Amino acid sequence: MDADLREAVALNAKQHQFALQQMRGLLVTIRNLDEARTADDRSIMARLAREQGPGTNSDHPQGFHDALPNGFRAMSKQMRQSFAGLATDIEAGNIGGYDAKRLRALDTCIGCHESYRFSEK
Ligand code: HEC
Repeated sequence: MDADLREAVALNAKQHQFALQQMRGLLVTIRNLDEARTADDRSIMARLAREQGPGTNSDHPQGFHDALPNGFRAMSKQMRQSFAGLATDIEAGNIGGYDAKRLRALDTCIGCHESYRFSEK
């Protein structure tokens, strides 16, 4: 494969592990949302989506936010807002809106993965 063109986000070991753990949690959330969607369990869907909404993660390691480039933070915020939008759509019974926002949230995962990688400092 050619050189990695993604922008490196330099994190210390603790921040790095924290970030990867968050990522794995996001994948689990998507999986669990899909399961609840299949079972049409809307209260679980709304709860799962809210849990990934903005401002729900206050326990990050010291200096974590400052270590993130602005573009990374913007994509992260956009994704958190998509999750909040998912919850709002579910609560409003708007499944069509939910499905569209789910794809938009996934597009943000993809966009950020194409743009950034983590590196340890
Ligand atoms: C703001 C940027 C950003 C967003 C948004 C984002 N990711 Fe990531 N994700 C990353 C980076 C950077 C890595 C590490 C890639 C690397 O270092 O090669 C990563 C890694 C991962 C990993 C691997 C974790 C590990 O332990 O190795 C998973 C799984 C993952 N992301 C899932 C998701 C899912 C699912 C979403 C969307 C719901 C998402 N990510 C949204 C930036 C992001």
